[in-house]
Amino acid sequence: MIEVKKLNVHIGDNHILKDIDLLFPERSITCIIGPSGCGKSTLLRTLNRLIDSTEGVRIDGQVLVDGEDIIDSQSDITELRRRIGLVSQRPCPLPMSIYDNVAYGCRINRMFKKRRELVLHVRQCLRAVGLMDEIKGRMHAPASRLSIGQQQRLCLARSLAVHPDYILADEATSALDPISSKTVEDLFVSLKDKYSIIMVTHTLRQALRIADNVVFMYLGEIIETGPASQVFNNPQNELTQKYLSGAFS
Ligand SMILES: Nc1ncnc2c1ncn2[C@@H]1O[C@H](COP(=O)(O)OP(=O)(O)OP(=O)(O)O)[C@@H](O)[C@H]1O
Ligand SMILES: [Mg+2]
Repeated sequence: MIEVKKLNVHIGDNHILKDIDLLFPERSITCIIGPSGCGKSTLLRTLNRLIDSTEGVRIDGQVLVDGEDIIDSQSDITELRRRIGLVSQRPCPLPMSIYDNVAYGCRINRMFKKRRELVLHVRQCLRAVGLMDEIKGRMHAPASRLSIGQQQRLCLARSLAVHPDYILADEATSALDPISSKTVEDLFVSLKDKYSIIMVTHTLRQALRIADNVVFMYLGEIIETGPASQVFNNPQNELTQKYLSGAFS
């Protein structure tokens, strides 16, 4: 479980995230929605401390991952990013083969002693994202030759390969055609028995289809959060009502 307490993020003079209190339940899909610039990506990037690389950033508050504060502690960043995988809006495969993209993290984390075990594992991960059949015989070709949708699924396979506990997805389907997008959506739904998935989406319909919980953000604040059925069918806050009715986007 990830629990965010009184989280404030400043970048330079800008107060980007304001007093965020949130609970991301286990084994479910939480969709974060809200207009452009409201802080969705910043929140995701804080959860696995990718935000650290931003110049002038200041973080106050707590992000408890299974009870451990990842902001304050001396926690091992490589281990944190293994546990919390991030799939970004634009797929960014490593400049290496399809196989090596998936094997890379396994090697760093010394997950397998025998090469044969690694090969089987890589194949299994590629199968899980529906790529195995599509790339038959091309496992050692450069990942850059894959289509964008395939690259996105490869990045997801790369995250899954190191056995994460959480998957963060930042508009992971926005660059995809409808069919690839549906494949990734179905995949997330099938993965939620094992993982906690937190995804940012601009597509309300997508959130309607797959979210168990919804978080609505506006100007760096959490305006409303709750079970998807409640937020969509009976939003309590006027801003949420307006956003859902398409009054602003
Ligand atoms: N490195 C940075 N320096 C200064 N301001 C930043 C930086 N990164 C983000 N911001 C600002 O923080 C705010 C939140 O940005 P963020 O990318 O989190 O929004 P978002 O909700 O993900 O938007 P979108 O839906 O367009 O992706 C924006 O006003 C943005 O301009
Ligand atoms: Mg964003």
